Amino acid sequence: MPRFSLTVNGKSVTVEAPADLPLLWVLRDKLGITGPKYGCGVGVCRSCTSHLDGEEVQPCVVPIADCAGRAVTTIEGLAKGDTLHPVQQAWLAEDVAQCGFCQPGQIMAAVALLKHTAEPTDEDIDKIENVCRCGSYFRIRQAIKRAAAAR
Ligand code: FES
Ligand code: FES
Repeated sequence: MPRFSLTVNGKSVTVEAPADLPLLWVLRDKLGITGPKYGCGVGVCRSCTSHLDGEEVQPCVVPIADCAGRAVTTIEGLAKGDTLHPVQQAWLAEDVAQCGFCQPGQIMAAVALLKHTAEPTDEDIDKIENVCRCGSYFRIRQAIKRAAAAR
């Protein structure tokens, strides 16, 4: 079976996997990184949202072969030691999560948005397509605005 080396949350890893195995399965089943959630498996619900070389991706539709030599960041890699990322802090301040299932993906999408848009408008925030079955969208919006204002 082919082997692929990549960086995951700052650590170098090498995995054996079929070239077409989606990154989400590598993360969850081979590396035990379960923050990215499996929802639809076809790139629609976005509960698996993570970053590849700093840009938002949906790991359920990214083959591991496309990740070789690259850097993956999941929700587990966002905090610096005991210090939460400002977006995570804003999430707590706004008490965003309900069941929590979609929240790792929501936070990773918000971090990606703020990377490119320092002061997002409601319209910018509405472009985030991550699904929340609990309907936490209003609090997500408030948290993103709080994180933006804190920078
Ligand atoms: S699991 Fe739904 S987009 Fe990845
Ligand atoms: S908090 Fe339950 S699905 Fe979003």
